[in-house]
Amino acid sequence: MLGIIGGTGLTKLTNLEITRRQVARTPYGEPSGALIFGHLCGAEVVFLARHGYGHTIPPHEVNYRANIWALKEFGVDRIVSVATVGGIKPELPAGSLVVPHQLIDYTWGRAQSFVISGEKPVTHLDFTEPYCGAMRRDILRAAAQKQIDISDGGVYAVAQGPRLETAAEINRYERDGCDMVGMTGMPEAYLARELDICYAAIGVVVNDAAGRGASKNGIREEDIMRVLDDLMSRVRILLEELVVLQHPEACPV
Ligand code: HPA
Repeated sequence: MLGIIGGTGLTKLTNLEITRRQVARTPYGEPSGALIFGHLCGAEVVFLARHGYGHTIPPHEVNYRANIWALKEFGVDRIVSVATVGGIKPELPAGSLVVPHQLIDYTWGRAQSFVISGEKPVTHLDFTEPYCGAMRRDILRAAAQKQIDISDGGVYAVAQGPRLETAAEINRYERDGCDMVGMTGMPEAYLARELDICYAAIGVVVNDAAGRGASKNGIREEDIMRVLDDLMSRVRILLEELVVLQHPEACPV
């Protein structure tokens, strides 16, 4: 089953025909909210709002382990994550969409693994390609099908937050090879890998990164809000098409 993790601006899926809400408990605590099961275009999916339904959980306090564990426990084997980001390179201006292919993790102090020291022999999982190729391709195909512009690939700098970056930090991320910056890409992607879940992300570029383009003199919340609604309506269409594509039997065209 497909799990959809919604970020800022996507705390619910308006076209989801909800069948049940499941409060989950995990060995790692409680997820950000109830899992919302329902049908999207005839196929069963489950939705989880990463920051809670009232958007009250900041990126560094999200219980990523509980979220991923709960999704797995309730039958999710594929996740599409929706994450707002700031665009670093000029090809990713505010208002654009991107499917990152790589990431650099600058976060600290987050629980990075389900493996608790002393419990099991230590293993080191391959993470050369942090995103699931099959899911990335499906997202890109769904976008093409709906004529939604989306960039194929980009390196996601995962910053700790909750504050936005300084201009010098963005310069550093760029020198490191990053194309966009967000706060929630890790440890989410790695935790999905630990549980063998195919995981990819849709980066929703809501602002030019600090010191760049329209954010040359600062990032204004109202500018973010202005692009967010339009972007999320495109994301909703994209998600529906993704489901159609992955479930031709449930959604005959
Ligand atoms: N930086 C970090 N995270 C973000 C940004 C940003 O500019 N925009 C949206 N999420």
